[in-house]
Amino acid sequence: MPSLQEQIQQFEQEINAFQPATAAELEDYRIRFLGAKGIVKHLFGEIKTVPAEQRKDAGQLLNAFKLLAEQKHEAFKDLSETATAKGPKVDHTMPGIPLPLGTRHPLRVVENKIVSIFERIGFSVATGPEIEDDWHNFTSLNMPLDHPARDMQDTFYVSSNPDWVLRTHTSSTQARILETQPLPIRVICPGRVYRNETISARAHCFFHQCEGLYVDKNVSFADLKQTLYYFVTEMFGENTKVRFRPSYFPFTEPSAEMDISCTVCGGSGCNLCKHSGWVEILGCGMVHPNMLRNFGIDPEVYTGFAFGMGVERITQVKYQVNDLRLYSQNDVRFLRQFQGI
Ligand code: DAH
Repeated sequence: MPSLQEQIQQFEQEINAFQPATAAELEDYRIRFLGAKGIVKHLFGEIKTVPAEQRKDAGQLLNAFKLLAEQKHEAFKDLSETATAKGPKVDHTMPGIPLPLGTRHPLRVVENKIVSIFERIGFSVATGPEIEDDWHNFTSLNMPLDHPARDMQDTFYVSSNPDWVLRTHTSSTQARILETQPLPIRVICPGRVYRNETISARAHCFFHQCEGLYVDKNVSFADLKQTLYYFVTEMFGENTKVRFRPSYFPFTEPSAEMDISCTVCGGSGCNLCKHSGWVEILGCGMVHPNMLRNFGIDPEVYTGFAFGMGVERITQVKYQVNDLRLYSQNDVRFLRQFQGI
């Protein structure tokens, strides 16, 4: 008959090697070791056969053994919790916890809308670099070095190269297209632009624009008006009115700014339209002959129109966002409001 110590050692080996794969195996183990007639109980009963002076040590051994047996059972408890003899404790038919899904950024949604409206009437999409050289951002757009209109846009210069700027408008892409694409040209150029502005509700050091350019024979101001009117009714609804005010841009002649009837009050006056009934949404005009010449296009043969709009501005007018900073704060409470638009 093996001694109590020897028996304990042998059972310890068995316990250490035990790796249940099913709840049933774990339950067999529990009954065998920890049950009312199990090995642990039995060995504790054996302690009376141990000589009195060794009982204290034997008791300690047994307590450690019991702990080992219990810990092993505990380690595989998950097995018995998912499927006990009484049936699963977990309800597999319960709906899962939904994963928080991201949404498209409102500016991207609006940019996509703008682009798709123009794509439907034959415009293709072009993009250009955000770090731009002086020629494409200013000079070729009829803004030579000493031109006062350069001050209309506060520019970030790239310190390593005095010829480079962070583009102040997407009109620079217009220049790149005139430089490289064969005529006729009909493009829409979305992208991010930068200006050295103090960040506030109404100004930001970066924002987004969409530029449009159409150059062909016989393109007239009437084409420009009709194209932009189509855009406005698609974007803001059929009943939206437009008006053009004379303006100045170096790269267009004549130039205009376009207003639409206020999308909030419909013209009766509110905060968005500053009680005028109209909100300005873009600048436009007929491409300046100097600009065409800069790219070797004969302005006697070809004419064109161009326009540029701020994506933030369109979003503000369409969805009444009243603080530009919201677009870059990434507050999900703001972003979620645009789910599904
Ligand atoms: N580039 C102008 C700006 O950022 C917007 C603009 C006005 C673009 C008139 C044009 C245009 O193409 O014709 O303020």
